[in-house]
Parts: sequence; structure tokens; C-alpha cells
Amino acid sequence: MAGKFFIRTFGCQMNEYDSAKIAGLLAERSGMTGADTPQDADLVVLNTCSVREKAQHKVFSDLGLLKRLKQQRPELMIAVGGCLASQEGGAIVTRAPHVDVVFGPQTLHRLPELLERRRAGGRPQVDVSFPEIEKFDRLPEPKASGASALVSIMEGCSKYCSFCVVPYTRGREVSRPFDEVIAEIAALAGQGVKEVTLLGQNVNAWRGEIDREPADYAELLRYVAEVEGIERIRYTTSHPREFTQRLIDAHADLPALCSQVHLPVQSGSDRVLAAMKRGYSALEYRSIIRRLRRARPELSLHSDFIVGFPGENAADFEATLALAAELGFDGSYAFIYSPRPGTPAAELPDNTTAAEKLERLQRLNRLLEAQALAASQAMVGTVQRVLVEGPSARRRDELAGRTANNRVVNFRGHAALANRFVELRITGVRSHTLRGEIERAD
Ligand code: SAM
Ligand code: F3S
Repeated sequence: MAGKFFIRTFGCQMNEYDSAKIAGLLAERSGMTGADTPQDADLVVLNTCSVREKAQHKVFSDLGLLKRLKQQRPELMIAVGGCLASQEGGAIVTRAPHVDVVFGPQTLHRLPELLERRRAGGRPQVDVSFPEIEKFDRLPEPKASGASALVSIMEGCSKYCSFCVVPYTRGREVSRPFDEVIAEIAALAGQGVKEVTLLGQNVNAWRGEIDREPADYAELLRYVAEVEGIERIRYTTSHPREFTQRLIDAHADLPALCSQVHLPVQSGSDRVLAAMKRGYSALEYRSIIRRLRRARPELSLHSDFIVGFPGENAADFEATLALAAELGFDGSYAFIYSPRPGTPAAELPDNTTAAEKLERLQRLNRLLEAQALAASQAMVGTVQRVLVEGPSARRRDELAGRTANNRVVNFRGHAALANRFVELRITGVRSHTLRGEIERAD
């Protein structure tokens, strides 16, 4: 099926990674090319998220707009993938009969044949099964687009936090074999990639075999750091439950590991953490951070928080605020709890009003934003090594790059610096970015 495709991605970096693979598949197997807008496309793919209700609403409102497009051009194909597709399956076609194909995160490699079958047989095709590792085997070779790349090292989640749909939509934890991960990273490095972000719902749950010996995530990191050309390693998301001393030690031993960790805490109250089934206490979380900071004093800490979990009272929320104030996060996401169908927490009684939840969110966000701003201000005057990504989002005559602690810096410089490291002196702070001046280019 030649023609043009347009992919809209909702949600997390996992979905971004999957969308890049879908684009590769459609180009390689179906001979298609990318379109700039849905109006120009012969196929529109929505790669969806269902982690909170809002994300789900956005998908159905997009499907409403696509319905009109399909009425004008009945030959337009519409495919829905990702977590909402996995959760709802055939119900998506019942609710939106103009959808041609529904596929899950584990069946995206089957998209070209599902589209073919839809064309040949006439009926909408739904495949949201979990053939596990088959997905990794059937995907096109990675193609670098710049100096930074995402690399999936594991899929799914077996933690079953009581609020979360991910174990149901993406299936249980499956690690990608060591050889494949290293081969992908080496291939990317060969194409000029200098920074990799290892991806998974819980990267530190990765288990594999290296030289026929069982190996864990800390060991994998040591091998990734050895790949020639890889100067920076990031990872997301990790989970406090398997944040071992070996992993903490890797932060002391591996300079390529960036000084930034995204470690979701969700709550500072042990009562709430237990009800969430997170598997750690606030004290254990504090202990991880204390040891990480000993290993890496300049560590920049990011987190996720949920407020208004069923049964969270004022004292529980104060414990969350106290934990945030004490540990000093410098970039975080806070969400109001959103009941997800089929998850145990959705059955729990919830007496907190929406207004109270909103007030808690605003109080927490005020603290987190102040902490992020203070961390940015502390960088003013320092020299930071930045990997240049390309023109800045706002001004095409400026460049944007990322510091080791994952802050975007905009600066004036020659376009030829793209995909290279430069040293920038930080000169100012904007709302979500920094400004800098070139001190030295490699
Ligand atoms: N694997 C990660 C971890 O270890 O926690 C989280 C993955 S989840 C897709 C991303 C974030 O969404 C979570 O950390 C949590 O804060 C938030 N989240 C998940 N389910 C939620 C829900 N039902 N309501 C509100 N926020 C939720
Ligand atoms: Fe969700 Fe908890 Fe896994 S937040 S992705 S069930 S670690």
C-alpha cells in the first residue's frame, strides 16, 4: 500500500518510540512516506494513551474530527494503536465505526498486514493480543535521526500498582535480550548517535543473560557505557522497588550516566503508598535518594506524584509536601488521581471532593515549580556541556541543546553545531528553558 501516512502520538516516550517504529514499518514494508497533516494522508494512525481519563478523551475527540475527513474521502484509512486500543479493543470500532484497524502496543509490527486485510476483506481488523517478544524481532533496523536516540530495553509492567492500567494494556514485564540491545545501540552509534535513552516502564526490572550468566540492569548499563561513540546514557522510567545498591554504584562508576534520575515516588505517605501497592515506604525512597546523592552529588532528581488517591487525607497530603520539600526535586509531574476501569483502586471509596484535590495539586505544583526554578537559577553562571539538537523551537535562527540534567538551553550558534557537544555558559532562565552563550565547541 503506497501513499502517505500521518501518525499522532499521545502519552509517554514509550509511545514516541513505538511511533518511530510504526513509521519505519510503513516505509519499509508498505512503501509509504510521511505526510505533514492528516488532510494530506492516505492513512492516519493514532498512537494512544489511557493512563488518565483526559488522554482518553483527547483520542475520542480526534476520532470525531477524523470522521468528517473520512466522509469527504472514504478511501482514507484510520488505525488506532497504543494503550487505549489495547484496553478497549473492538469497542473502539463499535463506538467509532469509521476506524479500520485497531492494534495494541505488542502487535504494532502486524499493522501492514492488518491494513492489507482490511482492504481485501472489507471488515475492520482488531488485533490487541500479546505475542510478547515477537514485536522486537519483527521491527525494522533502527535509523538514527540526530545524535540522540531512544532504545527500548523492556516492555510491559508486572508491578500492578493499584491505580495503573499499564500492566493490562502493555502486558507483563518482558526484557529484551542483551545481545539485541547492545547490537541496536552499536548500530545507532555507527550512525552518529552519542546519547541513548534506555526505555521501559521499569528499566531497572531488566533481567538478561550476559555470557550465559544471569545479569541485571546495573550490569547492562556497564556494557552500554562501553559501546564506542556513546557518551551519554539516560533512562526512564525506573522504579524505587528495584533500585539496588549495584544500580546506585553504577552512578558513581559510570561518567556516561547522566546526573539526572526520574524516579516516581507518587506519595510521601506510607498509608497511601501501601494502598497504591507501590512496594516501598517513604523512608526507603529517602534512603535511595540519600545514597544516590552520595554516589552523584550533582544529581538532579525528577519524580511523578499522584494527589487525591482514594482515602488520601490532609495528613497524607502534608506528608507528600514534606517529602518534596525535604528531597528537593528539580523537575516533576503531578497528577490528580484518575480512576481507570478495571484497576483495583477504581473500586475504593473516595470521599475527597474535586475542589480539595485541585487545591492539593495546586499546592504541590507551586512547590515543585519553585524548586525547578531555583535549580535552574543555580545553573546561571556555570558552564554546561550540551548536546545540540538543532534549531530552537521558537526561533529558527537559534539552536537548542540539552544539558546533562535534561534542561533545554537556547543559544546563538552556527547550524553546523547540530548533533555536536558544545560548552555553554548559562546566562539566564526562561519559564521552561535556559539561555546560554558558547564557551567552547568540541
Ligand atoms: N513505570 C512508572 C512508575 O514506576 O511509576 C510509571 C508509568 S505511568 C504510565 C506514568 C505516571 O502516570 C505514573 O508515575 C503516575 O504518576 C501517573 N499515573 C498512572 N496512573 C494514573 C492514574 N490512574 N491517575 C493519575 N495518574 C496516574
Ligand atoms: Fe504503572 Fe506501577 Fe507499572 S505506575 S507502569 S503499574 S510500576
